[in-house]
Amino acid sequence: MHFTLQQLKLFEAVSRHASYTRAAEEMHLTQPAVSIQLKRLEEQVGLPLFEHVGKKIFPTVAGKTMYQASCDILARVSELKNSVETLKGEVKGPLQLAVVTTSKYFMPHLLGMFLTKYPDVEPKLVFTNRAKVMQRLHNNEDDFVVMGQIPEDDHLETYPFLENILVVAAHPDHPLANTKQINLDEIVGERFLMREQGSGTRLVFDRLLEEKSLKLEPYMELGSSEAIKQGVMAGLGLAMLSLHSLRLELAAKKLVVLDVEGFPVKRRWFAVHLKGRKLSLVARTFLDFILTESHIILEHDKK
Ligand code: PGA
Repeated sequence: MHFTLQQLKLFEAVSRHASYTRAAEEMHLTQPAVSIQLKRLEEQVGLPLFEHVGKKIFPTVAGKTMYQASCDILARVSELKNSVETLKGEVKGPLQLAVVTTSKYFMPHLLGMFLTKYPDVEPKLVFTNRAKVMQRLHNNEDDFVVMGQIPEDDHLETYPFLENILVVAAHPDHPLANTKQINLDEIVGERFLMREQGSGTRLVFDRLLEEKSLKLEPYMELGSSEAIKQGVMAGLGLAMLSLHSLRLELAAKKLVVLDVEGFPVKRRWFAVHLKGRKLSLVARTFLDFILTESHIILEHDKK
């Protein structure tokens, strides 16, 4: 069988997305270019790899076998690339991370600082919610992931770094804006803008309410902390948010932090990977960097 690594990469992407179009987007190619390469691959294998039903594609038995093999081969090639870079002692090449959405307020800054030191690193950051980050973690898809709420799991290696301070934010004209020591059961009657299920921020809030046997029906559920913050500034309701995300708005007095029982909730951010995963030199260097340098973000936050 004569096929190229590029064909395997395309096949892997098409199988993962179950779509030629999405795979083409990911690989920055046109859809016909992907189809041609996959046709050639099928010719080499001598069996169809996908079955076309209406507009959908499904892997054939040969396709499933091929998918397993391509994942193995591509993982080995990536390991090989990393080992070679490690042998050369050069901090360069791919850095693949999945990070929870809320970390967008500090991860790009940390990465920016790192890249000024190591400009030959090729970073790829996937921002998604906690549930999806967990899924990627268990599939061993990234060098490591960054998340706030780590599960109890013996198979994980976890590295705490920055503090994550969670507060209840409100519009400055909110009736509770100047109230001291607001009881938690007092605010559950308020309109709350909440993150979607699967979000780590949401998980912390739900657990806090559960501990106090309180129930809160979200007034609105939004899939991003940024959208929630805009909603609070528009006076739509209150929200529990990470202090990292509020720095500019608090300074501009567009938002205030309420003095609520049990708040601020202090958590940490963690870098996490599966136990036994061998980190590449790039990943190891970036991990060390965030463990030792992330305090700069807090100093930045205070400015
Ligand atoms: P989230 O995660 O962005 O999914 O809310 C935050 C966290 O893990 O604390």
